[in-house]
Amino acid sequence: MLKKRIAVLVSGGGTNLAALLEAEKSGVISSGHIVLVVSDRPRAYALERAQAAGVKTCLLDKKALGGQQEFELQLQKLLDEECIHLIVLAGFLSILSSGFTRRYEKRIINIHPSLIPAFCGPGYYGLKVHEEALKRGVKLSGATVHFVNEIADGGEIIAQQTVPVSPGDTPQSLQQRIMEQAEWKLLPQAVEEVCRAIND
Ligand code: GRF
Repeated sequence: MLKKRIAVLVSGGGTNLAALLEAEKSGVISSGHIVLVVSDRPRAYALERAQAAGVKTCLLDKKALGGQQEFELQLQKLLDEECIHLIVLAGFLSILSSGFTRRYEKRIINIHPSLIPAFCGPGYYGLKVHEEALKRGVKLSGATVHFVNEIADGGEIIAQQTVPVSPGDTPQSLQQRIMEQAEWKLLPQAVEEVCRAIND
């Protein structure tokens, strides 16, 4: 079976991308191949991680391009040229328009650092998610992988992993535990599962 061609969209440090690249090397991801990494902003360390792994990178600087619409136009061209089957949002901070997500029904997945439907939706990203979880006093948090549609964090849930909240946790310590114990395992597993299910 031909491996599905995967594009990973990033905006930041790229620890989830690193987990995906490691998973492809170790064979956890065997039905897909990461062929492209795209960032919407210039100083994303994720781009360096991709280059170090020999993966093609492209910077589509949303600010320099003049905004989301132009960004999506360029992204669309790139994804078509690279014959991409699956788009993985890994620490990607731009909200994709409904026009874009409708073209990729069940072909875009995202990792969110909470147990959706808790602590998700517009404005819930990065440390803010964990600040709210700690403020609410939840004893369990975790991560969710879901399909992306026009509703922020609203697409069908693919997988979830719980992570205990420790007394004295800060947003940073909770974020780190959720990345280590949940995100970096869940996303590669979900990518493999979705690649197997794609029979283009
Ligand atoms: C982290 O908050 C992670 O939970 C979320 O995006 C942020 C950065 O991820 N998915 P990464 O290190 O850029 O993969």
